[in-house]
Amino acid sequence: MNDMTTTTENTVENTTETPAVLDASGVTMRFGGLTAVRSVDLKVHAGEIVGLIGPNGAGKTTFFNCLTGLYVPTEGKVSYKGTVLPPKPHLVTQAGIARTFQNIRLFANMTVLENVLVGRHTRTKEGLWSALLRGPGFKKAEAASHKRAMELLEFIGLEHKADHLARNLPYGEQRKLEIARALASDPGLLLLDEPTAGMNPQETRVTEELIFAIRDQGIAVLVIEHDMRFIFNLCDRVACLVQGEKLVEGTPSVVQGDERVVAAYLGTPFEGAPGAEEAAEVEAAEEAQGTTSKTSTTSTTSPEGETP
Ligand SMILES: Nc1ncnc2c1ncn2[C@@H]1O[C@H](COP(=O)(O)OP(=O)(O)OP(=O)(O)O)[C@@H](O)[C@H]1O
Ligand SMILES: [Mg+2]
Repeated sequence: MNDMTTTTENTVENTTETPAVLDASGVTMRFGGLTAVRSVDLKVHAGEIVGLIGPNGAGKTTFFNCLTGLYVPTEGKVSYKGTVLPPKPHLVTQAGIARTFQNIRLFANMTVLENVLVGRHTRTKEGLWSALLRGPGFKKAEAASHKRAMELLEFIGLEHKADHLARNLPYGEQRKLEIARALASDPGLLLLDEPTAGMNPQETRVTEELIFAIRDQGIAVLVIEHDMRFIFNLCDRVACLVQGEKLVEGTPSVVQGDERVVAAYLGTPFEGAPGAEEAAEVEAAEEAQGTTSKTSTTSTTSPEGETP
């Protein structure tokens, strides 16, 4: 069953025939009166690295939560490789989507290796009795899991810290460990929520290389980041969310040059933007009173790397 629609995506360069790994359509998430995500469509194809950007509070993490079953979207559906996903985190992981969190979620008092082994859990077939009785099947599976976990630690460059407690790792290494744990579930799609937050430029570059290497292993990637240099270097395609809506989607150069994206980051409402009319009215009223406001609506770095 092919779930792909034939609608044209005006800004999408990748028009290959491969089925979408991720196909989110019409995803809406409301919290009471607040619509955090409004009718967002997004596809990620095999072999792609797609970026999701937008000012603070734009709805990026909420969208991830809708994709991974942490939230049940108010409307819309999420398909993975042509199959609609049930909104349950463990079933989403089992299907093949893994993620990291904006606020790191490791088992602080477990070792680095144990954290990766936990991520492997969804792929081990050995049941409870086998584990309790520690039969040959269990021992074999345990050895295989251990081997795979060590390979992953080597891949992210943390094999020498396998027996350190996760809480003793520096921040940047904790972020990398989260990636290893996500990879342990053998995903076909990896969702990264601000993987370089708190990293220095050197660590950020290493992470960039790591994500390219992950993509080269055949895992599609959807990544949220505020670091525009990182996003535009890394991604084949970028979508920008503003106030829950997808404003622009296209290649890095298209998105980078779009004045609406720049305006969203600088906090300057453009014609037709959500809330632009009210903002214009407030500005006009302030001007009439002779009090010009210079406040900006976001504290994030602009696409040019300047602060507003
Ligand atoms: N569980 C929730 N209940 C109520 N409101 C929520 C909930 N989760 C998110 N929100 C609201 O939804 C909006 C979008 O938040 P979200 O965390 O998705 O933004 P974001 O784009 O990830 O921002 P940031 O770049 O700061 O991480 C915000 O107004 C937030 O307060
Ligand atoms: Mg967020």
